[in-house]
Amino acid sequence: MPETFDLLIKGATLVNHAGEGLADIGVKDGRIVAIGSFAGHCAGRTIDAVGLHILPGVIDTQVHFREPGLEHKEDLQSGSRSAVLGGVTAVFEMPNTKPATTSAEALADKVGRGRGRMYCDFAFFVGATRENVEELPRLEKLPGAAGIKVFMGSSTGDLLVDDEETLSRILALIARRAAFHAEDEARLRERASLRRDGDPLSHSQWRDPEAALAATAKLLRLATAAGKRVHVLHVSTAAEMQLLALHKDVASVEVTPQHLTLAAPEIYRRLGTKAQMNPPLRDPAHQNVLWWGLTQGVVDVLGSDHAPHTLEEKAQSYPLSPSGMPGVQTLVPVMLDHVSKGRLSLARFVDLTSAGPQRLFGISGKGRIAVGYDADLTIVDLKAERAIDDDWIGSKCGWTPFAGERVKGWPVGTVVRGDLAMWEGELGAACGEPVRFGEALPRDPLA
Ligand code: DOR
Repeated sequence: MPETFDLLIKGATLVNHAGEGLADIGVKDGRIVAIGSFAGHCAGRTIDAVGLHILPGVIDTQVHFREPGLEHKEDLQSGSRSAVLGGVTAVFEMPNTKPATTSAEALADKVGRGRGRMYCDFAFFVGATRENVEELPRLEKLPGAAGIKVFMGSSTGDLLVDDEETLSRILALIARRAAFHAEDEARLRERASLRRDGDPLSHSQWRDPEAALAATAKLLRLATAAGKRVHVLHVSTAAEMQLLALHKDVASVEVTPQHLTLAAPEIYRRLGTKAQMNPPLRDPAHQNVLWWGLTQGVVDVLGSDHAPHTLEEKAQSYPLSPSGMPGVQTLVPVMLDHVSKGRLSLARFVDLTSAGPQRLFGISGKGRIAVGYDADLTIVDLKAERAIDDDWIGSKCGWTPFAGERVKGWPVGTVVRGDLAMWEGELGAACGEPVRFGEALPRDPLA
């Protein structure tokens, strides 16, 4: 008797840990239950995916969705809408909201807001402050927590821990891998006068490569002393990448599609303040070494650092303009375009966007196309050629730094625990749930 599936996806090329090949995928109760050839099987819904590629669901481990407090820029629903339109099945969201996510109450509030309202699955980073250090070991293990986030240099919002004593104390206390924004606050303060009114290129001169390197070097020293794993977000400079390559015992590395794709000084002339972010977009010499790190395996994950601001906010003259750009929706097409140009393989893309996040953060039941895992799938058309434009963007901010770029490779479907969150640009139901982590699994009293 042929098995009955809730969802059967037929005829696509599956890309997973075992390689690449034609296979059907059977889904029941939100999980993958069979991978193989299932002609004649029944299913509640069958999708013909001939000609398409199915990847493990793309997990974006750095987004800012602004809720609560800054909903005029984005909210959890609009940010996750943008995510699934771009083929992303789960996001880790950052704590620099209003209020900042620095307590159990603030975290539980976000989890409650996300459940059934977000289109993709989610986890939230808890922000470290000088005041909540002793609480962090408890906070990092709460349901829905992706871990601890530390801003070593100030950026959007007021989260900041820049003194060595507190950083060491945080590292001594926590058990999970924490994520760090590494720019040296003292150097940023010293150099603030280098900002030139109306000139966003001066942003990259103010927040210079040395500011990033100094913070990353300090972090690696403290992590090694404490014997703790650290995750360095949005690495942007050549020297950091080379240093990180010598510290893979403690450090994992994120790069963003924008640091890999958009380069100074041209991008500041073309996009003005839209190109302004922290750490800044840098020149091709740095970008080349980021690609070296990516192809040599130093880089563990791609994160979009989706950080939307409204066009009105971005229209203010530099330095009044805020730092950050949207990116959750463009991560997949921008990077698939790099795949089409031969700059990375599809297997490496999968490694960076699902297996990598799973390995670093110990995600339970995601990050792999395998029986028993959540049916989170990113379905793409590698042959589709399209132009990215602002009209396509589902984020409240309504713009993208990649507007006008023609890319080859496009997200066609986003499957979240067996539900079609997006198919050919149409949204499904919002069914987001918290991501679970092996280091913080809830006890099940009924088991
Ligand atoms: O450019 C940035 N914008 N970098 C960050 O670290 C924060 C982000 C934001 O939240 O706007």
